[in-house]
Amino acid sequence: MSKKKVVFLTGAGISAESGISTFRDSDGLWENHNVEDVASIDGWYRNPDLVIDFYNERRRQLKNCIPNKAHLIVAEFEKDFDVTVVTQNVDNLHERAGSSKIIHLHGELTKACNESKTFVTDIGYNDISKGSRAADGSKLRPFIVWFGEAVPLLETAIHEIEKCNILVIIGTSLAVYPAAGLVHYAPKHSEIYLIDPKIPNVSSSNIFFIEEKATVGMEKLVDIIKKND
Ligand code: OAD
Repeated sequence: MSKKKVVFLTGAGISAESGISTFRDSDGLWENHNVEDVASIDGWYRNPDLVIDFYNERRRQLKNCIPNKAHLIVAEFEKDFDVTVVTQNVDNLHERAGSSKIIHLHGELTKACNESKTFVTDIGYNDISKGSRAADGSKLRPFIVWFGEAVPLLETAIHEIEKCNILVIIGTSLAVYPAAGLVHYAPKHSEIYLIDPKIPNVSSSNIFFIEEKATVGMEKLVDIIKKND
């Protein structure tokens, strides 16, 4: 028998217990910066040096973080299920926990690119130097999808969610579109679970809520899914 398909849709909350700040739990500030200044294309045009500094700092911070139990349980699901992770996170904690199929909707901290995003390069945890140029002569920038930019992997994520038997949403305020709209692509008869200590507003009616932090919530989810099987 073929394995059931599970899609995990994750947001900043899954990495909170690894020590990475969420976006909307601190009054619109992200690590003491206005989100518009450091996570929008206009912010980049206004002050690229500030943006480069900011993401260099995030990359250094990431180096010292480790995946938590929630990331690890997501990876363990691959033993019994056909799993895809669709994440809004730019950290690499799903990869480091062992997940093998990950769609990074909002880009990746450990990569850099040219301004038209046609050339992407792995930089690991290294800084981007201010004033660095890409091969085409444009400014080298963090490989992040900022506000005001297209989300190229959206269609790929939709295709995965349309085929799922189980959708598990973890640690996202579902405040940012188009990612937040993905929930509505789950097939009618799929099971949908949402794990978050502060359940966000969501219009879908057939969601089973687990009002817990990601680590505790994932352990509960495993028990629920085992019972249902
Ligand atoms: P948010 O900061 O908007 O939401 C984080 C969610 O995680 C909230 O619902 C919290 O209640 C929940 N949370 C907090 N601690 C948690 C824990 N220990 N376990 C589980 N959940 C917890 O983050 P996102 O929804 O990911 O985009 O934000 C979406 C996008 O907005 C981000 O990808 C980013 C941001 O601007 C870009 O940078 C382009």
